Amino acid sequence: MIQIPEFATRFEKLFASRPRIYRAPGRVNLIGEHTDYNDGFVMPAAVGFSTYVAITARPDGKLIIRSEEFPGSFQFDLDHLPPKRTGAWCDYVLGVATVLQQRGCELAGANLLIHGDVPIGAGLSSSAAIEVASALAMLSLGETRLPLPEIAQLCRQAENNFVGARVGIMDQFVSCMAKAGHAILLDCRSLDPKSVPIPADLRLVVCNTMVKHDLATGAYNTRRAECEEGVRYFARYDPTIRALRDVSPELLEQHARDLPATIWKRCCHVVRENQRTMDAARALANGDLDRMKELMRESHRSLRDLYQVSCRELDIMVEAAEGQPGFCGGRMTGGGFGGCTVNLVRQENASEFAAQVAERYQRATGITSQIYSCSAEDGVQALS
Ligand code: GLA
Repeated sequence: MIQIPEFATRFEKLFASRPRIYRAPGRVNLIGEHTDYNDGFVMPAAVGFSTYVAITARPDGKLIIRSEEFPGSFQFDLDHLPPKRTGAWCDYVLGVATVLQQRGCELAGANLLIHGDVPIGAGLSSSAAIEVASALAMLSLGETRLPLPEIAQLCRQAENNFVGARVGIMDQFVSCMAKAGHAILLDCRSLDPKSVPIPADLRLVVCNTMVKHDLATGAYNTRRAECEEGVRYFARYDPTIRALRDVSPELLEQHARDLPATIWKRCCHVVRENQRTMDAARALANGDLDRMKELMRESHRSLRDLYQVSCRELDIMVEAAEGQPGFCGGRMTGGGFGGCTVNLVRQENASEFAAQVAERYQRATGITSQIYSCSAEDGVQALS
């Protein structure tokens, strides 16, 4: 757990100035997976893992970027930022600086020191956390004030256009807009968020398979391309269809036999997952946890069998949770191919749940997992 005064002191030792500090959280997604880039619905919540960015201005128009976890001290000239990614971790910050400039924000030269405790490659959105915290930090030195939803969109653009991962809006949005004790039901087309209270006696138990995923590699972008192929197909029958969000379950069924099998499976997941997500928001808000459990189970199976983004370890982790006392629903969370499962667990059962799941998982895979008992936290904040 980071101590903010000590972090500020370490910054001062490096840069001889007293920083402002911004904190942006990682997230879990309770349901609504691979729907955001299909203009659909998602239901994430921020968790207690965060990235912290400390910043001070410098007069020479340079951007100095350092991390407490990753090597290197990177130096760039704000008047000549690299036009494309460098391949180093600092790309997340550079990408944000670039899109802010393109948006017309005057950036000041700055020293940045980054400290992150969001597990990397675990599907908990470490990248959105660093982007959002860096955006607020860099904006704080200039004149431009932007609304948080716009900051989320700019951070997403940075990841799409600069880093090269064609992610949707979910992670950056929740890192900006999350509210403690709540999940957000987000309509990814209108960006209209609705707060969904999470019952106070539930913990979000996050189980890390320790199998790393890397979204920038092909599979994520391939899924996106397959969805786009589905949209092109359905738009031939109904030109008002702009995204899989617009495809009704009925239309999908009518074409079950004419679409290539893979494309049909992908479309099927997205169309039904959107419905499940809206149903889940209602179930959670009404405290109908039996329904919630059912929906999360269906979501996982669909990601495993239709969207095909799960993996053996995630499936084992999901199965390890079934039948445990206090378990109210679980599934893989995030992009997939490794990373974490998210579980709703009664508070009084949470530590025993963690121990049991870790043991079952270890027995089946030989891997020692990491299990975190989380609550839903606020989005990005200025700390000093
Ligand atoms: C990653 C992306 C999100 C979303 C999920 C899958 O986390 O960053 O935009 O697409 O995968 O739901």
